[in-house]
Amino acid sequence: MTKLQLNKKGNLNHLLTTEGLNEDLIFKIFNLADSFLNINNRDIKNVPLLRGKTVCNLFFENSTRTRTTFEIAAKRLSADVINLDIPSSSQSKGESVLDTIDNLIAMGADIFIIRHSQPGIPEKIAKHVGPNVHIINAGDGHHAHPTQGLLDVFTIKKFKDNFKLLSTAIVGDIKHSRVARSEIFALSALGVPDIRLIGPKNLMPDNIKVSNIKIFDSMEKGLKDVDVIMMLRIQKERMTGDNIPSEEDYFTNFGLRKKHLGLSKKDAIVMHPGPMNRGVEIDSEVADSDQSVILSQVTFGIAIRMAAVSYTHLRAHETRHDLV
Ligand code: CP
Repeated sequence: MTKLQLNKKGNLNHLLTTEGLNEDLIFKIFNLADSFLNINNRDIKNVPLLRGKTVCNLFFENSTRTRTTFEIAAKRLSADVINLDIPSSSQSKGESVLDTIDNLIAMGADIFIIRHSQPGIPEKIAKHVGPNVHIINAGDGHHAHPTQGLLDVFTIKKFKDNFKLLSTAIVGDIKHSRVARSEIFALSALGVPDIRLIGPKNLMPDNIKVSNIKIFDSMEKGLKDVDVIMMLRIQKERMTGDNIPSEEDYFTNFGLRKKHLGLSKKDAIVMHPGPMNRGVEIDSEVADSDQSVILSQVTFGIAIRMAAVSYTHLRAHETRHDLV
């Protein structure tokens, strides 16, 4: 996977996963995102970095935040943007994903943003396309959601000083969460020494090979003195035969409520990738509190996606560019 997504100079050719990304590369993406944050505060928010390039959004699974912010990101980079409406496309007539991709490349597509319920589809497409076409994974099943993982750690950087001193907690259905996996690899690459996973035992993963992880099945123990609380939705659409507690039980045991904020550090931030289920994994009083940075995550997502799309394309072609 790492070989597939990095070129010989160690720059991004595709973005398929945060697994294997190193600190240096993540900070290069952050620096680029910072320059785009400045641009996003200007009256005219567009830069010509991808003028003449075509970005295709292929969302085989529903999305609000990822799809919209990728579209905004590509438009701010002056790319032409195609949002293929999958239900009304020839997918409904039995065309394979790779045939759809080949046809869009024949029309001049340069970059594909892919969301699919099946893990591995973006990687399969990346193996299929030629060297001038770039693939960004916008979420594939339970496997990975790399731009979400990156925008989450970018958000943490905006509110906290030093990754190497942080205690972070990821709470909820870790087992089925591509977001949790992508966050864990990014936090680990940045040297976060304390990554806690909190949730019911049957919703814990058994195959994440990251050394500095601690597992808790109690909010009271797991949230003690943490700097960052990252909540997750129960991923019912990816559960097969897992024992799901009732939503009421789940909220009682693992829903984040105001009383929990007394366990974490006073200035802890509360995060959620969305979509949120209020009253299931998080109480409105917390979601809308001063400690919540949930909507900042969405805003920073535009800058991170601008960085991912432009970095993947321009670095892969060794193109010089001035951003502002
Ligand atoms: N966080 C996230 O992926 O949200 P969407 O499903 O709305 O894109």
